[in-house]
Amino acid sequence: MKILFIGDVVGSPGRSMVQNYLKKLKQKYQPHVTIINGENAASGKGINEKIYKNFLEWGAQAVTLGNHAWDKKEIFEFIDDANSMIRPANFPEGTPGRGLMFVKSNGIELAVINMQGRTFMPALDDPFRKMDELLEQAKKRTNLIFVDFHAETTSEKQAMGWYLDGRVSAVVGTHTHTQTADERILPQGTAYITDVGMTGPYDGILGVDREAVIKRFLTNLPVRFEVTKNGRTQLNGVVVDLDHKTGIAKKVERILINDDHPFFG
Ligand SMILES: [Fe+2]
Ligand SMILES: [Fe+2]
Repeated sequence: MKILFIGDVVGSPGRSMVQNYLKKLKQKYQPHVTIINGENAASGKGINEKIYKNFLEWGAQAVTLGNHAWDKKEIFEFIDDANSMIRPANFPEGTPGRGLMFVKSNGIELAVINMQGRTFMPALDDPFRKMDELLEQAKKRTNLIFVDFHAETTSEKQAMGWYLDGRVSAVVGTHTHTQTADERILPQGTAYITDVGMTGPYDGILGVDREAVIKRFLTNLPVRFEVTKNGRTQLNGVVVDLDHKTGIAKKVERILINDDHPFFG
């Protein structure tokens, strides 16, 4: 089973990239399942129902989130009915939504898990122990398990990768909006990348206007961050190929599309 994952889609520039490239990427890589991290899809903060539905129309089967999950208040109105969207599983008990979902392709089930790190991030439940819990549930149905680990530090993400090596099919990092070039298959067969990167503005800082970010560093005063508009854009993703019986990863390939790395179909 091939899975295409697209890193944090930021605002309208990110959404346009998904709309423009998803068909071409599907032609090139032939994924059975497409997953999009949509935590920044609505003006850089959160997601709304219209965008969630657009992602499904454009060809995704699952949408993952992160620390920005709740930024658009509208989420509380549709998250419980959004069967193809998950938020980090380690939010406190009773939080709306869920962190584990199943996608079916050609009769084979893929479990998708969204989890959030705790280092330099809000203090959620322990993501490692929560993962043990969810794996027990997921393994009852399938060996194919894909994890979006939304975390800040490279160390916490590497720790999760090694903790889950051989127990899940793939651990891909999100949240930093900066792609890392360390994609690999760990010794026990888990595909891993520390961060998939971000889909959206190419000349901003993590997707927002660089002037505001620089001003913040120069003055330490509060500034308003806006998604960079009308500039060059990029798409960041990863494709993993899994053995459909064992769930072991056979291949992992990084996707980077921008003016410096043009797309070849
Ligand atoms: Fe993000
Ligand atoms: Fe994030």
